[in-house]
Amino acid sequence: MVGRELRLPPLPAGPVAVLCGAGLAAASGVPTFRGPAGLWRRHRPEELATPAAFARDPRLVWEWYDWRRGLIAGCRPNAGHRALARLAGSRPGTTLISQNVDGLQERVPPARPLLLHGSIWRLRCAGGCGRGEWEDRRPRLPELPPRCPDCGGLARPAVVWFGEGLPAGSWRRAAAAASACALFLAVGTSAVVQPAAGLIDLARSAGAVTIEVNPEPTAAAVDHRLVGPAEEILPALVAALV
Ligand code: OAD
Repeated sequence: MVGRELRLPPLPAGPVAVLCGAGLAAASGVPTFRGPAGLWRRHRPEELATPAAFARDPRLVWEWYDWRRGLIAGCRPNAGHRALARLAGSRPGTTLISQNVDGLQERVPPARPLLLHGSIWRLRCAGGCGRGEWEDRRPRLPELPPRCPDCGGLARPAVVWFGEGLPAGSWRRAAAAASACALFLAVGTSAVVQPAAGLIDLARSAGAVTIEVNPEPTAAAVDHRLVGPAEEILPALVAALV
């Protein structure tokens, strides 16, 4: 759609739910997971983003997260994040749902996305000593792997790894929003990781109009596709919604 006018489908009144994926932050310089330059081309998920990987080699897993923290610390929210914050602030009944752990959307008030996969800026005790999650925004950690301040055991990133369940409260609210919305946007996600991708089907079967925003059409079953980058499409789409 670059250089061309964006042709929008009819947009219903009523609540909007938005599921975001890594593509939303691509223009900020955060690498996506899949695709030509995706992180999973260079790293195997089972070596880095699973409980078994962490048990086997916590330092290797932390080196990868520490590298990503350093990279993301130098990134800024882009026009797509700003458009979604505008939507959240201007259209009552909007729910932002994010698979991203980068914290970029949260930096644009009043956006407060439901975090389905946690946050790379939060840690928790891997031993489960009972201490709650804590925030640590230092771009590079002084000690790898970091330790739990309470029990001295290993700390882990407070993100969801393959094989783990999603945070129950965020998931419940996301599923409720998908079931009740009139319009559901799937933005910058390959829509292959479950259960997050299932929210698209949930919304569609509940009667919502579903629209994908992605430069590469995915296999997701949606009503309409806006083919192009989120940072270009979202400002125009949101302008039509608020
Ligand atoms: P993926 O890396 O699987 O997909 C990124 C999507 O963004 C692709 O469909 C790209 O075509 C699209 N994309 C690229 N640039 C874009 C742009 N400028 N605007 C819009 N879209 C763009 O990322 P996710 O779908 O988020 O899980 O991946 C889902 C989960 O898989 C992640 O949350 C992560 C990963 O394993 C965990 O960490 C648990």
